[in-house]
Amino acid sequence: MANRFEQFAAPGVRRLAPYVPGKPPEQLERELGITGSIKLASNENPLGPGPHARAALAAALAGVGMYPDGSGHVLRARLAAKHKVSIGQVTLGNGSNDVLVLLAGTFLTPEHEAVYSQYAFAVYPIAVQASGAKAIIAAANPADHRMPLGHDPAAILAAIGPRTRIVFLANPNNPTGTWLTGPELEELVRGIPPEVIVVLDEAYHEYSAGMGVPDGTTLQSQFPNLVVARTFSKAFGLAGLRVGYTLSHPDIADLLNRVRQPFNVSVVGLAAAAAALDDGEHVEATLALNRRGLARLREGLAALGLAVLPSAANFLLCDLHRPAAPVSDALLRRGVIVRPVVNYGLPNHLRISTGTAEQNERVLAAMAAALAEGA
Ligand SMILES: Cc1ncc(COP(=O)(O)O)c(C=O)c1O
Repeated sequence: MANRFEQFAAPGVRRLAPYVPGKPPEQLERELGITGSIKLASNENPLGPGPHARAALAAALAGVGMYPDGSGHVLRARLAAKHKVSIGQVTLGNGSNDVLVLLAGTFLTPEHEAVYSQYAFAVYPIAVQASGAKAIIAAANPADHRMPLGHDPAAILAAIGPRTRIVFLANPNNPTGTWLTGPELEELVRGIPPEVIVVLDEAYHEYSAGMGVPDGTTLQSQFPNLVVARTFSKAFGLAGLRVGYTLSHPDIADLLNRVRQPFNVSVVGLAAAAAALDDGEHVEATLALNRRGLARLREGLAALGLAVLPSAANFLLCDLHRPAAPVSDALLRRGVIVRPVVNYGLPNHLRISTGTAEQNERVLAAMAAALAEGA
């Protein structure tokens, strides 16, 4: 039924389709009357938070009757020290999703354009459309490229025009897992005019750093228009707490802070994130588990005759060469939730996050059964 208030909504909102998150296990279990399902659909850390973050979280509960420190001083100071920047260069968000939306709201108007690659992370189109700006989509690499479906720097540069105000880049990208190398990234950023804000989304940085993916923050002294977004949702295992941040020129941070909600990160989020930064052991354990998971899933999927794209993250994009929806449904019936990516224009692919060793075996067994039944 038509929405009776739609005509009164801002034009960008009228055409907007909401983000479709991974299906929560509770919902699947309710729908199918099953128990014991697993979710490898949202690129979370199967270990969850580490012991430092858990302890800080428990201790912070006593403080939830009070508003958080709106400036997030302690966490920002820790992040500034870690990244060797000034505290004024750190802006906190309710997840990095929040800072991505803040950037769009700060720099885009209906007069402007924002550029991003085909198959880039789904939050960019939503943030751009809601701002009323026009999205210009740069064609991605072809399927037979070294980085299939990944960002094509030449296409991105060609898409930039006089109205462009933001370029969104995800490195590595979700859902493809593909990445730009150091030289590719540097050349791309160098080619973008200085009045265009480059939003470099490094949500998977902790995973990707050991896999040959550059650290975008090393380019920031050369390029003041380069904003790097990071998150505690992935390798730090705090997705449910919603903490992310940007590192940027302090003048960009100043603008973001004008529109940022004053209490956008919770008391528990601030405390757990600051503690998580100290827990190098947990991050190491997470990265080791992910390395094993990627290798096992790659090998297991290949044994089933399935192709996967290169990935520098904690997930793989699997090309089924046939419609993925029936396979996804067959996996759901076996209590395994992975991510269909038809919303990205990829009806034949499924994105699978790495899990624990047991979860990885379960998804492979379910996939084998789904294929055997002709899904
Ligand atoms: C590339 C990318 N950026 C940003 C996010 C947002 O994560 P969060 O809002 O939890 O920080 C995600 C989450 O999947 C992502 O894949």
